[in-house]
Amino acid sequence: MMMTNHPHIHAPLLLGVMGDPIAHSKSPAMHNIALEAAALPGMYVPLHVKPEHLAEAVTGALALGFSGFNVTIPHKVAIMELLDELDESAVQCGAVNTVVIRDGRTKGYNTDGIGYVRSLKEETGELSGKIVTVLGAGGAARGIIYALLKEKVASVTVVNRTLSKADELLNLLNGSQTTLKSATYDELQACLPETDILINTTSVGMHPDVDATPVEAALIPEGIIVSDLIYNPLETRLLREAKARGCKVVGGLGMFVYQGAYAFEYWTGVDAPVSLMHSAVLEAFN
Ligand code: ATR
Repeated sequence: MMMTNHPHIHAPLLLGVMGDPIAHSKSPAMHNIALEAAALPGMYVPLHVKPEHLAEAVTGALALGFSGFNVTIPHKVAIMELLDELDESAVQCGAVNTVVIRDGRTKGYNTDGIGYVRSLKEETGELSGKIVTVLGAGGAARGIIYALLKEKVASVTVVNRTLSKADELLNLLNGSQTTLKSATYDELQACLPETDILINTTSVGMHPDVDATPVEAALIPEGIIVSDLIYNPLETRLLREAKARGCKVVGGLGMFVYQGAYAFEYWTGVDAPVSLMHSAVLEAFN
């Protein structure tokens, strides 16, 4: 086909993910399928960026005409001061996983928390009024609690090994209608019977420590919703034991897919083909 300079024919979209390491990222497979399905010419590439080169990489992406990129470990916090603008999601989560480049300006977003909560909602229904217990008080917990507050859950109890870290996290998130509490693992026995949704954000149970679980099975109330952010393995010991107790379980793969779906929509303005993206990620695992 002949190429023209017709104003409605745009240059191919350049997208990618910056991380260190990056070789095993499933994002390129997921986003290239999405671009193809949406009939958008473009490409999403893995970008191996060392921490000492992050600033140059951002300048480089601008210079090369990228429309945006994802950032992953270890750049999610460091990139914040390198961007022209931050969305409220990035400020509230204290981290960026998605950068949009428009008119030569960079804007950082965080789609991890809203991505997770969207996948939880798809699997379990409305979240407003629910009583939620979150295990862990790190960066992942912060993004998720930010998104849960937007859904108007009734209460969030943050359970952490180091109680002071749970309190620090809750102080960052004040000012909503949701009741916020901190607790230790010793208090789980008292708090779980009241819980509608239990969410693990710690790395306990992640490959290769697949025999580990953050909660003793006997403490999990029958029939509640139990969710794990971990997606390697797809079914953690926590989820397996919860399922055996008649719980509805939600794994972490949906979070990965939906954080990508939101990023795709920010970059392209086009609805993300979510189920195709989901199967592309599953295939990339096998
Ligand atoms: P992320 O960004 O993945 O959330 P992080 O910020 O390092 O990672 O936070 C890790 C979280 O997992 C913390 O809440 C940590 O508990 P502490 O604050 O007490 O360290 C929790 N965590 C990690 N390993 C754990 C373990 N073996 N048992 C219980 N909690 C653990």
